[in-house]
Amino acid sequence: MDAPDLAPPPAIADAPPGADRRGPHALPMDKLVIEGGPRLAGAIAVSGAKNAALPILCASLLTAEPLRLSNVPRLNDVRTMRTLLAQMGVAHDATGGALALCAAHIDWPLAPYELVKTMRASILALGPLLARCGEARVSLPGGCAIGLRPVDQHVKGLAAMGAEIDLEHGYIAARARRLRGARYVFDVVTVTGTENLMMAATLAEGTTVLENAAREPEVVDLARCLVAMGARIVGAGTDRIAIDGVDALHGATHAIMPDRIETGTFAAAAAATGGDVVLEGAGADALDAVIDKLRESGASVDVRDGALRVRRDGPLAPFNVRTAPFPGFPTDMQAQMMALATVAPGTSVITETIFENRMMHVQELKRLGADIEVEGNAAIVRGVPRLAGATVMATDLRASAGLVIAGLIADGETTIDRIYHLDRGYERIEDKLGALGARIRRVR
Ligand code: EPZ
Repeated sequence: MDAPDLAPPPAIADAPPGADRRGPHALPMDKLVIEGGPRLAGAIAVSGAKNAALPILCASLLTAEPLRLSNVPRLNDVRTMRTLLAQMGVAHDATGGALALCAAHIDWPLAPYELVKTMRASILALGPLLARCGEARVSLPGGCAIGLRPVDQHVKGLAAMGAEIDLEHGYIAARARRLRGARYVFDVVTVTGTENLMMAATLAEGTTVLENAAREPEVVDLARCLVAMGARIVGAGTDRIAIDGVDALHGATHAIMPDRIETGTFAAAAAATGGDVVLEGAGADALDAVIDKLRESGASVDVRDGALRVRRDGPLAPFNVRTAPFPGFPTDMQAQMMALATVAPGTSVITETIFENRMMHVQELKRLGADIEVEGNAAIVRGVPRLAGATVMATDLRASAGLVIAGLIADGETTIDRIYHLDRGYERIEDKLGALGARIRRVR
């Protein structure tokens, strides 16, 4: 079946007003320069979750009415998603941390390569476009630094719901007069795969049951938003989600959940520096596995009315981490905990089971004096008394967060290149760490 012959979209519109004028394509060679040593102390507020905001922005495509979001993090990935949606014809207006989106009509059900290559989460537009418009053309996201990251489950699931799908010239071309409810068992637990199919199913004819679904809190936050829009969903947060399709969704208001990975990152930094930090508005209930490992490392963690207090007065202790789908230890915290382990006396073993190449921070940590051997998907980390500052390079979002933590505890000055990776997922990280006493500055 030939792909829907969509006319070419207009040239990518300028970044929407108020968005970062560099746009998602600019790769400015900003650097972070960190003087290691200070113990972090004080309180900072946690931002909204990137990995909840990205699917929820795409949920705006499912209705012609406005979707009003609060607690939206100011991140490059969110700016990129806004650019992508604006290009499709979605109106949006940002005031403060609030963002209103309205897909009254969708001119171009298209996610072009130029944007998708800068942010794989663009694939999250596929399900909503197909459900709302009956057609979609979404560039296949290439691989990325941490792995091949195929999207076969997204495609297979939509096909099971009756979509006709062609893969051609690097694009997924999909068409369906109306999706049909289906029972779909994921071959592998996939977060955005679950989110894509859950969104598509909200407007399908009949009931869809997703088995072996991802249980991540961000999936639950998306489901909460969809239900507020009139969707009928039960089971989000379990591995079996049932969605009764409806004819249309309506507008809603939704507050994005706190970012549990940002919370975990700052908690690991507090433990590494022997500090005392309060993380306000933290998503503590989604961090049990991380809190457990922080305590094992010698930190004390108190959860009190929505805030997380992380302190360490005594010595660090070694610990083992094995990443797994939620509620297991999150892969997005693997690099950060490895940085902490580099100075924990003894031997820690960090095993990555989700992505096949998420160990690139090892080489950079070794430049800072860490003692790490990688065997297959496991890193054997032998604690050293201290790290020594050096120039290192960020390779992906969470690897760069691990390097920041290492820089905070290394003797002397650490310079981290290519921190555009960091800006994708952390809102003004140098301001937040600086507020806690870190000696950190951005060099343009
Ligand atoms: C989401 O990515 C997150 N991104 C990632 O966060 C996170 O690391 C990942 O889930 C795992 O928790 C967003 O939510 C926007 P997957 P996603 O599909 O959905 C394989 C960050 O740092 N797979 O759950 O792309 C895949 O190769 C980012 O914020 C297939 O084989 O991850 C991987 O091995 C990085 N076929 C495993 O499943 C598919 O169709 C889990 O991937 C889909 C996935």
